Amino acid sequence: MKKWLPIAIFAMAGVTGFFISGFDIPLKGASFKGAPKTEAQLGEKLFFDKMLSADRSLSCASCHIPSHGFADTVAFSRGVGGRLGKRNTPSCANVADRPYLFYDGRAASLEDQVRFPIEDHNEMDLPIEEAVKRVGADKKYVAWFKKIYGAAPTAKTLQAAIAAFERTIETSKTPFDRYMADDEKAMSASAIRGRELFMSDRAKCFDCHFSPDFTGDEFRNIGLYDGVTFNDEGRYGITRDKNDLGKFKVPGLRNVAVTGPYMHNGMFRTLREVIEYYNDPYKVVKAPVNIDTALAKPLNLTEQEKTDLENFLLALTDDRFVNK
Ligand code: HEC
Ligand code: HEC
Repeated sequence: MKKWLPIAIFAMAGVTGFFISGFDIPLKGASFKGAPKTEAQLGEKLFFDKMLSADRSLSCASCHIPSHGFADTVAFSRGVGGRLGKRNTPSCANVADRPYLFYDGRAASLEDQVRFPIEDHNEMDLPIEEAVKRVGADKKYVAWFKKIYGAAPTAKTLQAAIAAFERTIETSKTPFDRYMADDEKAMSASAIRGRELFMSDRAKCFDCHFSPDFTGDEFRNIGLYDGVTFNDEGRYGITRDKNDLGKFKVPGLRNVAVTGPYMHNGMFRTLREVIEYYNDPYKVVKAPVNIDTALAKPLNLTEQEKTDLENFLLALTDDRFVNK
C-alpha cells in the first residue's frame, strides 16, 4: 500500500496544483528590501543575520547556502572559531512537512529545531536568551516584532519567525514535477528510465525515498555504521535502542544535484559515487552493523542504468538553482 500512495500523490500533483511555491531564492540576503511585512519575511531577515552567532561571524545562511539548495559545499561546516561540526549540513529547503529534523531526529518541529544551531558550541555558540537579548537591543527588530507579534522578541517568536521562513522554501519547479503534470518532454528518456528503476523492486530506492519530497521521514540504516571506521551511531544516540544503531533520517532528494557532498558524514562528493555505493555497499563498508534488508545484495546495475538513475536525480532540481 505504502508504495502506491505516493504514486497517487504524484499523479494528483498536476491536477490539483498540489505543489505550490512562490518564493524567490534570496541569493545575497533577504529577497525583499526594507521592513518585513510577514512573519516569514521577519524570519528571512533573521536567517541571514550574523548577530545570531557568538562572534557575529555566521548566519544560518553561512552553512545553509541558498544557491546550493540551502546546504553546504563541504563535508563538515565550520562554526564559530573555525570549529568543525560532526555531521554534514543538509538542505533546509522542503522541510515544511518533516515530522523530525536532524539526521538523528532530535528535533520534532521546525520551531524547536531553530535553537539547536544557535546554541551548538560547534555552530553559532550563543545561548538562546543571549540571542533574544541581542535582537531585543536592535531598534529595527523591536519595531518589526512589535508589528508582527505585538510584543518585543522572545525565544518563542524568534524561533517561530525563522521556522515560518523555512516553511516558504519549498521547491517544485523541476523537470520531474512538470513530467508528473503530463509534460512528457520535461524529462529525458534516460531520466524516465531512471525513474522506473528508482521505483523498481530491483533498485528499491522508493522503499525509503518516497512521498512528494522523496523521504518517508523514517530512520533507516544503509550500512554506513560499523562501530570502527564509521562510528556515528545516528538515531541510537537519541533512543538508546540497539535496533537504531546506524539508522539515519532518510534525507529528501529534491535539489540533490546542488547539495553535495552527501550522507551524514559527507563521504561522497558526487551522485555517481552515491549510486556506486548503493550498487555494492560492501565494497565500501566491509562489515556494516544492522544494514537494512533492502540493501542485502549488490544491485548489479549496468553503467547505463547508473547514468539513468543519476539523470533522474538531476531532474529533481528546482529551476531556481540551475546555473546559480
Ligand atoms: C555551522 C553550520 C551551521 C549553521 C550556522 C546552521 N546550521 Fe543548520 N545544520 C547544520 C548541520 C551540520 C546540520 C545537521 C546536524 C545533524 O543532523 O545532527 C543542520 C541541520 C539543520 C536542519 C535540519 C534539516 C533536516 O532535514 O533535518 C535545519 C532545518 C537547519 N539546520 C536550519 C538551520 C537554521 C534555521 C539555522 C540558523 C538559526 C542553522 N541551521 C544554522 C549546520 C549549520
Ligand atoms: C533502506 C532505505 C534506503 C534505500 C533502499 C535507499 N536509500 Fe538513499 N538514503 C537512505 C538514508 C538513511 C540516507 C542517509 C544516510 C546517511 O546520511 O548516512 C540516504 C541518502 C541518500 C542520498 C544522499 C542524500 C544527501 O543529501 O546526502 C542519495 C542521493 C540517495 N540516498 C539516493 C538513493 C538511491 C538512488 C537509492 C536507490 C539505488 C537509494 N537512495 C536507496 C535510505 C535509503
